[in-house]
Amino acid sequence: MTRESWQTRLGFILAAVGSAVGLGNLWRFPWMTSENGGAAFLLVYLGVVLLVGVPGLLAEFVIGRRSGRNPVGALSSLSDSKAWSAFGHVFVVTAIVLLSFYSVVGGWILRYVGASVTGAYFANPGGYFDAVNYGLEAAGFHLLFLGITALIVLRGVKRGIESATKVMMPAIVVLLVALAVWGVTLDGAGEGLTFLLSPDFAALEANFFDILPVAAGQALFTLSLGAGTMLTYASYLGEDRSLAADGTAIAVLNTFVGVLAGVVVFPIMFALVGEVGDGGPGALFVGLASAFASLPYGQLVGTVFFGVVALAALSSSISMLEIPVSFLVDEYGVSRPTATAGLVGVFAVTGSVCALDPGVFDLVASTIVDLLLTGGLVGFLLFAGWVLGRDAVAEYELGAGAFASRFGTPWLYAAGVFIPVFLIFTFVSGLAGALGVSVASTELLGVTFSQTRVFVVVSVLVALASFLGLRRADSVI
Ligand code: PHE
Repeated sequence: MTRESWQTRLGFILAAVGSAVGLGNLWRFPWMTSENGGAAFLLVYLGVVLLVGVPGLLAEFVIGRRSGRNPVGALSSLSDSKAWSAFGHVFVVTAIVLLSFYSVVGGWILRYVGASVTGAYFANPGGYFDAVNYGLEAAGFHLLFLGITALIVLRGVKRGIESATKVMMPAIVVLLVALAVWGVTLDGAGEGLTFLLSPDFAALEANFFDILPVAAGQALFTLSLGAGTMLTYASYLGEDRSLAADGTAIAVLNTFVGVLAGVVVFPIMFALVGEVGDGGPGALFVGLASAFASLPYGQLVGTVFFGVVALAALSSSISMLEIPVSFLVDEYGVSRPTATAGLVGVFAVTGSVCALDPGVFDLVASTIVDLLLTGGLVGFLLFAGWVLGRDAVAEYELGAGAFASRFGTPWLYAAGVFIPVFLIFTFVSGLAGALGVSVASTELLGVTFSQTRVFVVVSVLVALASFLGLRRADSVI
């Protein structure tokens, strides 16, 4: 059986943007931003998207297109190594973890679309969320969301994913722009925009090392990096397009929608609720729902808003389900319908655990996901830099054109050396933060080393050492 491929270049870009734009932009971004200082967080996050996100995206694209396989098949076929093949299986786990909690939030959203139509949460938005967020009904809505996701994936790459995202993405952008235009004209919206757009540099400096891992995790999450999604999508590509151009377009569009979502959410919160709310996964549901409740056309605005979020969530969840589906199809020759059905069975159980237990949900949705994505992306980057080496540059240059081709080798150094060093640092500090270990300044031989200095010195040394190593590796230069 021949492997599937995208119908058009635009189809691939829209599917990848569809994967990127999702609850990460519309739900997790406002949540993380409100908990981590607003504009200061946005600034760090944008920096990571540019310096880590785009090169990371290219690493996944290069591996995916060159191998034409799912993450496990890609790493094993391009390296002939058992260790890389074993590592590839991490991505199957990541997909399961991701979709398990994502589908629960997707279920909340579906419920809120209905509840906006009827105005069910208007009387008591906080109480409503508390009553429906976890429990049997939440598990039911999770199953509904999972079912819709599966119906799209079942139809395949062209007829399912590509045709669905081709309709969803334009709809999302048009509706969000309309909501943003309306939102910024509200009385008191200015305060929300200030919170989002004008950074407090003193606070940024003081909290930089707390913000950094969260911003890095969020940047990876929103670009769907480190899970193998982008790799899998690129594996359905022909050879004729510029990965650099496509990757840049995807990152720019995703960032645009992310900031646009902020421009919708924060002015509405500040104008109608008077604050950003107390954060947490319910920020969007409680804060925005109370805003909608106080509006003359609240039911309509609420329905449109949650409808947009539902579309965005679906265009991402299909990309999560596609990872293990392509794994079973490529590696075990299972048919697409059988693979999809079997996986739905697995997710039905794992997602229900998240829907029933808030403790599991919280841990999975923040810390575990960040760690898995960071670790996963480090793996892809090292693979591109050290295993593929020169071949990665050759793959990057295919269809790249003269201008983008110039960046091939610098990209490989960034991907193979500097970015992994940075990500390992954020991984360690994220883990330390999660375990409650504080990384304070240390005094050695009478000199006080601040975190910043230690970080910079260690990073430069490690980067330099690996840079020299990479230069000597047979595969490069
Ligand atoms: N990028 C998606 C979002 O922002 C989430 C996602 C992460 C999708 C990893 C696939 C893989 O909602």
